[in-house]
Amino acid sequence: MYVCLCHNVTDARIHQLVRTEGVSTMRELREHLGVGTQCGKCAKCAKDVLREAVSEARCEGACSGMLATA
Ligand code: FES
Repeated sequence: MYVCLCHNVTDARIHQLVRTEGVSTMRELREHLGVGTQCGKCAKCAKDVLREAVSEARCEGACSGMLATA
């Protein structure tokens, strides 16, 4: 789904950025994708998607660590 129409940013793009670049804050998201820098209507949704993506990335990291030690 589109999160930021002004900059054509999708939730999938945010998830990818979190996984590949380690983005974890709105400031970093703004710097990478411009999210929230034009009309600003996407800010709340972007924050929610970012929080979800960071949580998933941490879970994946923890799970892979558990597999490595098993
Ligand atoms: S929808 Fe994101 S800045 Fe306008």
